[in-house]
Amino acid sequence: MNVLVTRRLLPGVLDPLRRWAVDVWEGEGPMPRSELTKRVADVDGLLCMLTDRIDAELLAAAPRLRVVSQMAVGVDNVDLGACTARGIPVGHTPGVLTETTADTAWALLAAATRRIPEGHDHVRGGHWGPWDPGLLLGGDLWDTTLGIVGLGRIGSAVARRARGFSMRVLYTGPRRKPHLEARLRVTYRELDDLLAESDHVVLTAPLTPETRHLIGRDALRRMRPDATLVNVARGGLVDHEALYEALIEGWIGRAALDVTEPEPIPGDHPLVGLPNCLIIPHLGSASERTRRAMAELAVANLERGLRGEPLVHCANPEVEHP
Ligand code: GLV
Ligand code: GLV
Repeated sequence: MNVLVTRRLLPGVLDPLRRWAVDVWEGEGPMPRSELTKRVADVDGLLCMLTDRIDAELLAAAPRLRVVSQMAVGVDNVDLGACTARGIPVGHTPGVLTETTADTAWALLAAATRRIPEGHDHVRGGHWGPWDPGLLLGGDLWDTTLGIVGLGRIGSAVARRARGFSMRVLYTGPRRKPHLEARLRVTYRELDDLLAESDHVVLTAPLTPETRHLIGRDALRRMRPDATLVNVARGGLVDHEALYEALIEGWIGRAALDVTEPEPIPGDHPLVGLPNCLIIPHLGSASERTRRAMAELAVANLERGLRGEPLVHCANPEVEHP
C-alpha cells in the first residue's frame, strides 16, 4: 500500500510504516496544492497537516484513498462530510496536545496581561532607566475572572490551571456541562454574559460554521475595557478587522493570538504593529514531546485505517459505526 506524508516529521516517527511505500514531501513549506493533487493519485493512506485542504476535489483525485490521518486535533481544513460520503475515516490527535496547548494559553495570557513583550522590547531597545513606579502597568491574573469559550479538553485544562491563580472561572459553549462544573469549579454563562463579566477571555472552541467570527464587533464591545483576549483555537473564531478596531479604540485592553486569519498573518498587517497585540506563529502544541506524541498518534491512526481497523481517534466516527 502507498502512503503520502505531507510534511517532514521528527526522526523515527514513521518507522512503523516501513512495510508500506511511504512518500514524504521534503519541500520547505506545506505541499503545494498541485503537487498534493498529483501525488494522491495512487495513495491508500494520507498523513496530512492543518495546512492541507482536504476537500471533495482532492478526494476525487485519490480514488484509492481509504484513510486520512491529520496530525492536529482541529480538522476544519478537512471536509468531513465529503470523507464520510466516501467512507473514509479521518484521524486526528486529541488528548496528547491538551496540556501543552493549555500551557501556551497561560503563557500568552500572562505575557499579554503583564505586558512582558513590551518590557522585553524596552530593555532590548536600551530604554531601561531608573526604576519607575508607573512603568508598563498591566492587569492582574490573581483574583480576577477568567472566561473560557469552549470547555472541551483544552478548555478544561486551562480551567484547572486557573485555580493556582485564585481566579473565578466562567465557561460557555453550545451546552452546559454540569458534570464538569463541580470538578473544575466553573460556572456556565451565556456568551454575552461571559464576555461582560470576564477580565480575561480564552478561546478554545473548534472552528465550525457556528463559531466563525464568534468574536466580532458586538462581542468585543461587550468585553471589559481592560480585558485580555487570548486565542489558541483557530483564527477564524475572531473577526480580525473588528479586533483591530477594538484594540485601537480601547474596547478591550489587549489580545494575545496563537492563531490568526489569514495564517500566516502578513508582517505588514495592522495587528502586527500594535503594542497591545501579542502574536505567535501557531505554537500551541509546539513542545518537542507533544509534537512527537502527535506524530505517533497520527501514524497509529493511519496504520489502523490501512488495516481496516477502527482508528484511535476518529473525527467522523459515523464512518466506523454506520
Ligand atoms: C493545532 O492547531 C491542532 O489543531 O492540533
Ligand atoms: C519592586 O521590585 C518592589 O520591591 O516593590
